[in-house]
Amino acid sequence: MNQHAEAAAPLLELVGVGRTYGSGRRTTTALSGVDLAVRPGRSVGIVGESGAGKSTLLRLLLALDRPTQGQVLYRGEPLAHRDRAAVRRFRRDVQIVFQDPRSSLDPRMTVGSVVAEPLRSLRVPGDRRARVTEVLGWVGLEPDAADRYPAQFSGGQRQRIAIARALAPSPSVLVGDEPVSALDVSVREQVLDLLRRLRTELGLTLVLVSHDIAVVGQLCEETVVLHDGRVVEQAPTPQLLTHPQHPYTQRLLAAVPHLPAP
Ligand SMILES: Nc1ncnc2c1ncn2[C@@H]1O[C@H](COP(=O)(O)OP(=O)(O)OP(=O)(O)O)[C@@H](O)[C@H]1O
Ligand SMILES: [Mg+2]
Repeated sequence: MNQHAEAAAPLLELVGVGRTYGSGRRTTTALSGVDLAVRPGRSVGIVGESGAGKSTLLRLLLALDRPTQGQVLYRGEPLAHRDRAAVRRFRRDVQIVFQDPRSSLDPRMTVGSVVAEPLRSLRVPGDRRARVTEVLGWVGLEPDAADRYPAQFSGGQRQRIAIARALAPSPSVLVGDEPVSALDVSVREQVLDLLRRLRTELGLTLVLVSHDIAVVGQLCEETVVLHDGRVVEQAPTPQLLTHPQHPYTQRLLAAVPHLPAP
């Protein structure tokens, strides 16, 4: 192991993780034998086709679900669900942006309330209105956006609002589940640029799930390829894009019409 890898203990870690659904003959193995370390300040992309287990993996990382084998560690420890203060720290530290801002933003709430919601529910101290203005600014929205409703914004702007909400409680880790898949191609690039800039400026740790290896290629230093619930390849992204080792990765890459230069 090199010095760099030794220096940073993982923020989130999956150790021999498996998740099966159902029982007996109807058992589905969604994930099997997955090892994954997410180190502070790094960006990890998870790619794979539909049914590969991407959402299952994210749900385990976010502690929305528990593994049937192995362990999920947060800052080196399993999350003790009975320790409510620890769970609240975790919920604040690991935030998610979902695929579709149409369904993830409550249409009856003003943008200001939407963005302030995690501050309320996680009991984050401080001036909420000021914090909302600040994070709206980070994603390129004016302060008066807070008084309007999600429906008054375009798809790209709504996804910016979802990103502002995720950043409001100052998380260390931002998790994206297909965060640009529902957007038009032109808007997609802008939101990817925004995520890249925020990651650098805020020193965020990023975990990004996408069926699109090109999206992960633009944003993530390291890429994990999931196939049938198993990690078939894991490598620095430039290396994976230019020298894919596993036939499945090679197939995924062949399906991409044009790839950005790594
Ligand atoms: N609650 C559940 N009950 C039973 N099987 C499930 C459940 N959730 C997921 N699965 C199965 O686990 C496997 C992995 O599903 P998962 O949703 O993690 O895939 P995915 O990679 O996110 O796919 P997609 O790209 O379509 O979102 C699939 O075979 C799926 O049918
Ligand atoms: Mg999914």
